[in-house]
Amino acid sequence: MVIAKIAPSLLSSDFARLAEECERMLSLGADYLHMDVMDGHFVPNLTLGAPIIKCLRPHTKGFLDCHLMVSNPEQWVDDFASAGADLFCFHIEATKDASALIDDIHAKGMKAGMAIKPDTPVDAVYEFAEKLDQVLVMTVEPGFGGQSFMPACMDKVRELRKRYPNLDIEVDGGLDLENIEMAAKAGANVIVAGSSIFKAKSPEAVISLFRKTVND
Ligand code: DX5
Ligand code: ZN
Repeated sequence: MVIAKIAPSLLSSDFARLAEECERMLSLGADYLHMDVMDGHFVPNLTLGAPIIKCLRPHTKGFLDCHLMVSNPEQWVDDFASAGADLFCFHIEATKDASALIDDIHAKGMKAGMAIKPDTPVDAVYEFAEKLDQVLVMTVEPGFGGQSFMPACMDKVRELRKRYPNLDIEVDGGLDLENIEMAAKAGANVIVAGSSIFKAKSPEAVISLFRKTVND
């Protein structure tokens, strides 16, 4: 059985206060800190890279769930490992040799995740699933926070959960209190949310409702 892990996306936080925002989220019940890395090439937006993770690392013990929306993810494994990332999640669409990349991520001491965009079929993941620590099913086109959840992506989550009862399946994009039940029923257990947590009157209540919906 898998359990809920709630991962606020720091993309919706005040970057000028990143360390405080991370600690605030952990104190409100977050399990993971989801860090969105964008290179302006794989996606049309720029955010942060390994130098920021390195600066942040001494200020938090939180699990840094790094989601790399970048071309050539291979070139950043060493930097993220030495910066102190806990999980390195790359996009299958961005790499030619996913198997070698997963091995390298593990060899450098990080957990390995693989992400798929909304148009990528779920069977692309199967040959790698056994050696992955987490699969990320995107529920929006990667690149920006604040977009609408795509319910059609739940078929992929259902299929994955059927095949891999113990796999950590993460969903990312537009998750909120309206659609969490659908995502949880489909089998997602790692819930990324930016806008719905950071804009809430009570982020703590949202985190706890997410957890309850997944675990019930
Ligand atoms: C989008 C990012 C997400 C984003 C989610 O490309 O991968 O992690 O921050 O934000 P919301 O929850 O606002 O859709
Ligand atoms: Zn993300």
